[in-house]
Amino acid sequence: MPTLASHIDPKGTLFIGNQDAYAGLLATLRGRQAFVVQGGRDRSIERHRARGKYLPRERIDMVVDPGTPFLELSTLAGFGQYDDQAPGAAIVTGIGIVHGCPCMFIANDATVKGGSLLPASIKKHIRAQQIALENRLPTLYLVDSGGAFLPLQDEVFPDKDHFGGTFYCQARMSAAGLPQLSVVLGGCTAGGAYVPALSDEVIIVEGIGRIFLGGPPIVKAALGEIVDPDELGGAELHTLESGVADHIAYDEPEAYAKLRDSVAHLNQPPVPTPPQPSRPPLHSTEELGGVVNHDARIPFDIREIIARIADASEFQEFKPRYGDSIVTGTAHVHGYPVGLIGNNGIIFSSAALKATHFIEMCNQRGIPILFLQNTSGYMVGRDAEAGGIAKDGAKMVASVANSTVPKLTVLVGGSYGAGNYGMCGRGFQPRFLFAWPNSRIATMSAETAQTVLVDIRRGGLDRDQVDEEQLEKIRSEVADQYETQSDPYYATSRIWDDGLIEPSQTRAVLGLCLALAARAPGDDAPRYRVFRM
Ligand code: COA
Repeated sequence: MPTLASHIDPKGTLFIGNQDAYAGLLATLRGRQAFVVQGGRDRSIERHRARGKYLPRERIDMVVDPGTPFLELSTLAGFGQYDDQAPGAAIVTGIGIVHGCPCMFIANDATVKGGSLLPASIKKHIRAQQIALENRLPTLYLVDSGGAFLPLQDEVFPDKDHFGGTFYCQARMSAAGLPQLSVVLGGCTAGGAYVPALSDEVIIVEGIGRIFLGGPPIVKAALGEIVDPDELGGAELHTLESGVADHIAYDEPEAYAKLRDSVAHLNQPPVPTPPQPSRPPLHSTEELGGVVNHDARIPFDIREIIARIADASEFQEFKPRYGDSIVTGTAHVHGYPVGLIGNNGIIFSSAALKATHFIEMCNQRGIPILFLQNTSGYMVGRDAEAGGIAKDGAKMVASVANSTVPKLTVLVGGSYGAGNYGMCGRGFQPRFLFAWPNSRIATMSAETAQTVLVDIRRGGLDRDQVDEEQLEKIRSEVADQYETQSDPYYATSRIWDDGLIEPSQTRAVLGLCLALAARAPGDDAPRYRVFRM
């Protein structure tokens, strides 16, 4: 099998400068993630612990198989929003292994706004459910939530994919044969009561878990009754009298042991063994930060990334002499087969056609596709238009949309314009989409946007109306807006991706995603032949 050679000099000044710059990006990422996990809410964490309760990541740790990886999703959801008062959007989601079975975890963080669901929390919750549905994962809800975040009720309650959408997904997932299990660890009030109530099986922890449609204040207001929360909806009531919960646990560790026992009896398929043994790349994954040029205007060869992700750096490149602004080929990652499509700059017609042809072949052969995005989009200009870039780009976009094999996307650089679509951006529903902390996502770069918008404004004015000072102000505002909005933290905060990952973690993350893809390979191949492009 051909292997990729690296043309990077790890002792060269360019590489060392890039790696130093990337170390700064990683320090920022790690600092922000650490804040989400523990920062800025000492008082509420203390209060939580004083009640004998555990934090959500500690809870997950008690459920997963010891020593197995946990893939946390959208850790920085809500970052920079809500006056920075909602780290992680008050919820932890991710995939962990329980008795060999991959499971989706959705765990409320009661130390943030009582675990109530803000707009970003709802989006994160529903995204986790979508991932579980597509990858056929049982879902484990660790419920400790004040329900809808009431001050923003208009943004979390009434619309499709708002609070009701989480229950809709839960019912549909159960109908699709995907087990839904809950552990009740806090007050589940009103809407919140439906998470356990819609679960296939419910464990409730005595003393802390409560389920009621109306809590004590509502009962007092409506009926004039004064009632103790445990009498109204505690573990004794629900396991002895109402049957709303199925199992009682007397503390959290006991609840997680019971949850593990339940998962062991779900009769779900485990993670399959890969068809080949996993072999490390010939070039270190630790070098990836040095491969990416700190100055985004200087291109880098996507093969340098593939060489540090693929097993043994082996890569069966397809059409290496044609359409060279896209690189296509097959490889294995942690023993699982994958088709790679990576950008080397602007997408020309030939590259779009090559990618389309390759996507068709991956579909016929049942090979999942990984898109490595680093593009400013499709080529523009008279020559490109005359060459039919619009129809060739559309062929690529359509083949991505109609692809039936699992798709994965990683933003390793720029993700601009329709390049985002053709390279399987969020709108094209990859099973997972991750981004590196150097990535950028927008309709166009800040540099292009300021020129375009100023020119549009200038074109609408008569010559004597042109006010250069005013235009300069517009230019600077547009530049600021595009800089802010194309920042990866802006994107991840809004859950346009499933999380920011470090370059050196990429191979491990992709290995897990490909293992899940092998376990749930998706629909049948489309019923057409491979068209040569
Ligand atoms: N919307 C907005 N904020 C909420 C909230 C909600 N549904 N539930 C809790 N909070 C906030 C509180 O305002 C408080 O915010 P702060 O940290 O800025 O002061 C924080 O969460 C902690 O709430 P607190 O009541 O002090 O904590 P607790 O642990 O004693 O009780 C709950 C937690 C969830 C049991 C309790 O707050 C509660 O019953 N909330 C309302 C539940 C409800 O009726 N939901 C309607 C669902 S449709």
